[in-house]
Amino acid sequence: MKKPIIIANWKMNPASLKEARALFLAVARVASRVRNSQIVVCPPFVWLSLLGNFKKSEISLGAQNVFWEYEGAYTGEISIDMLKDLGVEYIIIGHSERRRNLIETDEMINKKIKLVLKNGIKAVFCVGEAERDEAGNYLHFVREEIINGLEGIPLSLFKNLIVTYEPVWAISSASGSDKPDFHPDTPEDAFQMATYIKRILFSLFGKRADGVPILYGGSVDVETGPEFLKKGNVDGLLVGRTSWNAEIFGKLLKNVNQLQKTKF
Ligand code: PGA
Repeated sequence: MKKPIIIANWKMNPASLKEARALFLAVARVASRVRNSQIVVCPPFVWLSLLGNFKKSEISLGAQNVFWEYEGAYTGEISIDMLKDLGVEYIIIGHSERRRNLIETDEMINKKIKLVLKNGIKAVFCVGEAERDEAGNYLHFVREEIINGLEGIPLSLFKNLIVTYEPVWAISSASGSDKPDFHPDTPEDAFQMATYIKRILFSLFGKRADGVPILYGGSVDVETGPEFLKKGNVDGLLVGRTSWNAEIFGKLLKNVNQLQKTKF
């Protein structure tokens, strides 16, 4: 197995620059000892500049979003050139929290993926259904997300594409007493979905899509992370809540490293 890609999605955390710095440096310390993963940290935009100064070769910097135009009158938006200037190498696109809370459409996501790939940055394209149904409509839903998100993108740009399967019902932000549908996914189910996504990519794009890494995300923790990698047919993990605490995330990185050493 290639080095798994482990992406820390800090979402809208932490609240202060001091905490962001401490978390980043702690992750960097662990990263310098675990060599078997590709570690990516995606902080909020406002901390990127400072963290770029501390960046170590073992960690790549990622962003949680980007705007699809290069420049202009777009209040509140951040451009690809700004992110490139800060050393960003990965950009999460189409996260379900943005699709749902900010009404990000497939069309907007498609424009962002095109821009990011054209600029030689890795696009971490998120797909996943909000609910399961017995008739299997959710499979069709995921397929449509992939088709729409990748429409018109030349195959020559696929080398920087990463597809992440995140079932919305398994993401920690979907938990809480008012959200009874929440439950963690299993590595066995992730295996089925990752295989399904690989098959869709192959049927749409042929052999060129063969190398596209598929990640899993949704309530990954220190114990389940290695299980998803071992049994889930995935090439990495997108980690939210578990990446917000240096000690816990460090443990996940060490567990993944251990797994790699055993060469499953
Ligand atoms: P979670 O978030 O690990 O907290 O469920 C994952 C994500 O939303 O990317």
